[in-house]
Amino acid sequence: IIASFQTKSLAGQHLLITAGPTFEPIDPVRGITNLSSGKMGYAIAQAAWEAGALVTLISGPTALATPHGVKRVQVQTAQQMHDAVMAALKQQTQQAFIAVAAVADWRVANASTQKLKKTGEHDTPVLQFAQNPDILATVAALPDAPYCVGFAAESENLLEYAAAKRIRKNIPLLVGNIGHQTFGQDDNELVLFDAQGTTQLPRADKQTLAIALIQELAKRLSA
Ligand code: CTP
Ligand code: CA
Repeated sequence: IIASFQTKSLAGQHLLITAGPTFEPIDPVRGITNLSSGKMGYAIAQAAWEAGALVTLISGPTALATPHGVKRVQVQTAQQMHDAVMAALKQQTQQAFIAVAAVADWRVANASTQKLKKTGEHDTPVLQFAQNPDILATVAALPDAPYCVGFAAESENLLEYAAAKRIRKNIPLLVGNIGHQTFGQDDNELVLFDAQGTTQLPRADKQTLAIALIQELAKRLSA
């Protein structure tokens, strides 16, 4: 009863979130993707809506249902995710941008419009790659940038790599985790990096962590 009288911590704030993997085509039936399930990003979108925010979720391919109350935009490639994020920012001033998506760093530059066929035993396709736009760095560099939150899934040296990544991307808050231990799992363990230092969010299910992260974000947005 008491809780229902509390002001919601993100009441009326617009939040833009990316989530899930991207899918980069090789040909019409094949592509390159990664092990992101989208669970963390979707849990954050849900927690933000529950905290009173108006949430737009730009999502790569996942098997998840749209979180209640959230506006979801479905994309496949990193370039499409970039374009959808820029369109959402143009449509509506966003107070915060949370980049949870595991965006493919490269796309196949010589993707085929026709299905690749086996021709001979030693004749294997050679893929060439081109770098994808860095969505988070692009948004963070906008003159009227929203408060930007990045995610870093590192396989080792989390403390060192994540702190450096926050500076390199020029963002106020970066959330670190050990990537291969969390992809597809229901729980996770997060470390927040900002200009003040680090804050640990102890191992918990992704819903619990999402609520804790949204509280940390709300604190920083109101500061
Ligand atoms: N990100 C993004 N667009 C990209 C690549 C990454 O928006 N093209 C965002 C991710 O959503 C995440 C953050 O940047 O919030 C960090 O992603 P990560 O892959 O850890 O960083 P990179 O700069 O790509 O560095 P690397 O993969 O080499 O560690
Ligand atoms: Ca990357």
